[in-house]
Amino acid sequence: MHPLQCVLQVQRSLGWGPLASVSWLSLRMCRAHSSLSSTTCSSPERQEDGARKDFSSRLAAGPTFQHFLKSASAPQEKLSSEVEDPPPYLTMDELLGRQRKVYLETYGCQMNVNDTEIAWSILQKSGYLRTSNLQEADVILLVTCSIREKAEQTIWNRLHQLKALKTRRPRSRVPLRIGILGCMAERLKEEILNREKMVDVLAGPDAYRDLPRLLAVAESGQQAANVLLSLDETYADVMPVQTNPSATSAFVSIMRGCDNMCSYCIVPFTRGRERSRPVASILEEVKKLSEQVLQLIHERDNICKQIHLPAQSGSSRVLEAMRRGYSREAYVELVHHIRESIPGVSLSSDFIAGFCGETEEDHVQTVSLLREVQYNMGFLFAYSMRQKTRAYHRLKDDVPEEVKLRRLEELITVFREEATKANQISVGCTQLVLVEGLSKRSVTDLCGRNDGNLKVIFPDAEMEDVNNPGLRVRAQPGDYVLVKITSASSQTLRGHVLCRTTLKDSSENC
Ligand code: 5AD
Repeated sequence: MHPLQCVLQVQRSLGWGPLASVSWLSLRMCRAHSSLSSTTCSSPERQEDGARKDFSSRLAAGPTFQHFLKSASAPQEKLSSEVEDPPPYLTMDELLGRQRKVYLETYGCQMNVNDTEIAWSILQKSGYLRTSNLQEADVILLVTCSIREKAEQTIWNRLHQLKALKTRRPRSRVPLRIGILGCMAERLKEEILNREKMVDVLAGPDAYRDLPRLLAVAESGQQAANVLLSLDETYADVMPVQTNPSATSAFVSIMRGCDNMCSYCIVPFTRGRERSRPVASILEEVKKLSEQVLQLIHERDNICKQIHLPAQSGSSRVLEAMRRGYSREAYVELVHHIRESIPGVSLSSDFIAGFCGETEEDHVQTVSLLREVQYNMGFLFAYSMRQKTRAYHRLKDDVPEEVKLRRLEELITVFREEATKANQISVGCTQLVLVEGLSKRSVTDLCGRNDGNLKVIFPDAEMEDVNNPGLRVRAQPGDYVLVKITSASSQTLRGHVLCRTTLKDSSENC
């Protein structure tokens, strides 16, 4: 913990004060920042001796490192769900959103997308509602960007439009409040409030927890701002709420701020010092996202139910030597969880036979994992030492070549036995198959993939199209067809085609 962090804690608690004192605190803190950074330190030569002596004596009389440790709280301990006492000038009720509708608009980088999700998560907990309709909004918040001049100009222009909206607002409705969040709030601070009297709230990138208070102050008709930067704020305990429910990607932030000080860049000044989010909180969020992915695979017919889980070995000892970061037990637990979440999921894996130090007992463990999981597909390799790797520098490639190959053969045999058993369950079923094209082995056969991504081979024959009764068609790449499975091996299923269909029309009946 750096002493400055403690300074900041004190400032935070003062942060409930009126706007003027908040701005002051932020300025003082910016100065503290620059004295920290080696690149922006004022040169010692310029300091006078007297001043240096004075500083040394003040330092000696000042608090020790222990003082800071005592009064500082770890970032993980701050919980947004903890109900804080309202400041003396607000009641608990005034701090709440009371169903007011917030419209959030995001500008700039992915970090701002994530900030929007964090700001919304905080406001949602405070009783605000979300709207995607500007006209309906009681609060409009712009999550802004300062990276280039043009980015800021866009916001100024937008503010002019919003000003009109605010002026035209009928008196019968609650007054519209406008807030500037993020980098531009941080960079321009009160300049925004002075230039744009229509802006009610300013919140810098580290002040989103304060939004309910700032909005409550704004309700009384005053402007409210918090542009304090923090050394430790990572919003670790705030689970971001994905703002666009139909988004195709999600971001997991692992750090905030930047210390690089590239000579052209404003980011260190708008987002503050670099700090990492605690690993546990990143893991929790990723876990939540992984759960959502499993849920989606289970629910959606257009996502194939296959997951590749490269195990590499069934021995926890070898996994540790490989630095894989999981044990056999953890891996098996994950397999069970996936199977419960997606019934009928097909699993594939990679395995390496004869890694450095692998004993016969380790190998037996891998064989038993192959039996236990019963993969539908597998990719098995004999270990070959690669230059530059950690194993190359630290471990010994001590399993003789013939032993590696013998173990590989054993793994392949067991994998095939188990995959054949697993795939045989499909015999007699009618499966939906996405046609890929001609089979590699025979020009009279077509090849496609079932819902488990397994290859299905079937004769290229005429069939009916379920949407055009009476019409005889031949399957083309990209078509969905129903295939009755008649035999199965470790690698492929075989069958005969019944009809052409669509994802929507098809319902697998086994
Ligand atoms: N020797 C053998 N197999 C390897 N793999 C990666 N590196 C090696 C190596 N040095 C295998 C792993 C990985 C797959 C892509 O290739 O099983 O998952």
